[in-house]
Amino acid sequence: EKKYDYIFKLILIGSSGVGKSSILQRYVQKIFNTEYTCTIGVDFFMKTINIRDKSIKLQLWDTAGTEKFKSITTGYYRGANAAFVVFDLTSKPSFDSVSEWIENYYKYSNPDSEKHVVLIGNKSDLKENREITQEQIDSFVMNNKIKYFETSAKNGENIDECFYFIAEKLMNDLEEKEFENNINDKNDVINDENLKKNKIDIIGGKRCCF
Ligand code: GTP
Ligand code: MG
Repeated sequence: EKKYDYIFKLILIGSSGVGKSSILQRYVQKIFNTEYTCTIGVDFFMKTINIRDKSIKLQLWDTAGTEKFKSITTGYYRGANAAFVVFDLTSKPSFDSVSEWIENYYKYSNPDSEKHVVLIGNKSDLKENREITQEQIDSFVMNNKIKYFETSAKNGENIDECFYFIAEKLMNDLEEKEFENNINDKNDVINDENLKKNKIDIIGGKRCCF
């Protein structure tokens, strides 16, 4: 039996060491590990959350940032409803490669599905080591028209919020579509009834109603 109303596939991408696995560990298991264990290929997490009266199952795919796993990881972009593109606020190179990660998401996810990107600047707790200015981030976010969160897997800042944001956005989009389909269905029914009525009128030899 289905125990959820919606299911969404979300992927985390971005350079090695930016904290993708740490973000997911914090979000799902509520733990933080200072030791760095590089992800091999892909890893998978699951979490169900409630928004309004709906339960939403999140399939969370953690990918390795290392170039050598690229051919494996990009295979998992397909069918993703959204991508979190993560960079490390203390590493300029990780920010510089964000565009490339976004392009790859567009390239390897389904060509016909809608794409959502959320940019994550992680390690916000390391304020003294920050290498990217607010202006640099603001202009990137404005130019690319994407949502941005500043997170810390260490202290938990904005971790729940960024997942909640995308789950709610995807859910709203679906509900809007369902609503539109409903209206279209109703219009179809009304048209059908008109047709039927006209047909009966004609068969009965009566005057048509218009
Ligand atoms: P790959 O699997 O190689 O792609 O790396 P990753 O993006 O999964 O990075 P991972 O989560 O393994 O984190 C790398 C290192 O950064 C680890 O030593 C973490 O403890 C540390 N780290 C992750 N997030 C944070 C954070 O928010 N604050 C601080 N201070 N350290 C963090
Ligand atoms: Mg990892």
